[in-house]
Amino acid sequence: MPDGAAPVLDVRDLKTVFLTRSGEVHAVNSVSFDVRPGELLGVVGESGSGKSVTMMSLIGLLPSPPAEVREGQVLFGGRDLLSVDADTLRHIRGGRIGFVFQDPMTSLNPVFNVGFQIMEPLRTHMGLGKKAARDRAVELLELVGIPDARRRLGDYPHQFSGGMRQRVMIAIALACDPEVLIADEPTTALDVTIQAQILELVKELREKLGMAIVWITHDLGVIAGIADRVMVMYGGQVVEQAPVRELFGNPRHPYTRALLKTVPHVRGERAKRLEVIQGQPPILGAPPDACPFRDRCDHAFDRCARENPQRRPVGHGHDVACFWDPAHDG
Ligand SMILES: Nc1ncnc2c1ncn2[C@@H]1O[C@H](COP(=O)(O)OP(=O)(O)O)[C@@H](O)[C@H]1O
Ligand SMILES: [Mg+2]
Repeated sequence: MPDGAAPVLDVRDLKTVFLTRSGEVHAVNSVSFDVRPGELLGVVGESGSGKSVTMMSLIGLLPSPPAEVREGQVLFGGRDLLSVDADTLRHIRGGRIGFVFQDPMTSLNPVFNVGFQIMEPLRTHMGLGKKAARDRAVELLELVGIPDARRRLGDYPHQFSGGMRQRVMIAIALACDPEVLIADEPTTALDVTIQAQILELVKELREKLGMAIVWITHDLGVIAGIADRVMVMYGGQVVEQAPVRELFGNPRHPYTRALLKTVPHVRGERAKRLEVIQGQPPILGAPPDACPFRDRCDHAFDRCARENPQRRPVGHGHDVACFWDPAHDG
């Protein structure tokens, strides 16, 4: 991954709220990040930290109402995706930006065979005719390691195992040679062996196809083996970001440190008792004016209750939104 390359996707100050009957929920608060060509960016954070809402906001997949993307820019291919018209966005989404989400709205449709579902984007986004689309669909299924691909085009989703269905989803996301693939917890429901196979597949595909990947998970252990860079989210904010080795070797945010303690030791060693992080993530009724993690933080001091820390650089490509300095009290 070329370090200085211009980002393929550049998200700036994204703010998304939900308008609910009991008031506003500030789910995404000034999230900024970029993804460079060919890079694999891991996004971690426990459930409710704003990972999915961030990704869905930037490709216009959130239902509005109740969601409202209130501020920000999503720069992609010289345009701001937050201000392009619906047709253009539909074309980019599923074409130049592929995605695999867990929610039923964007997963496989039980009513159509998988051949139809892979051929559909090829026909609408790439204008392929029936035969060309069919050949390409076979190629894609082979690419993601589905045996006997041509015959399986006529099969329905329920005729595939969970792992194979996930491969089909990836094939669809890759159909139009996207520049960016966004994968939102695509392996969470799978058993560990299948998870490992999917991760291996994604690594291979990235090498072969060279696209950038945003890989979202609540499991930092999954990220360790595949990401170039990691962004940690908490309370709808990015609290830390660093190259993967740096993040594991020198975590700065107390939340990242706590997350790391929940990762079982690898290499076949039996997992020690995992520490869980005490407390609940916040649900924000207003933009935060204090650190969202302070109630669960062992290092919080008075300033953390008065001010929401901004991200500041602490190393090469490493930044953290925290006032505490581990060098001062270990
Ligand atoms: N439809 C909705 N209505 C109200 N709040 C929502 C809705 N969807 C998500 N949220 C809020 O957004 C927050 C972030 O959710 P999400 O991005 O799905 O978290 P993650 O993907 O990190 O688990 C949640 O804690 C929730 O409070
Ligand atoms: Mg999610």
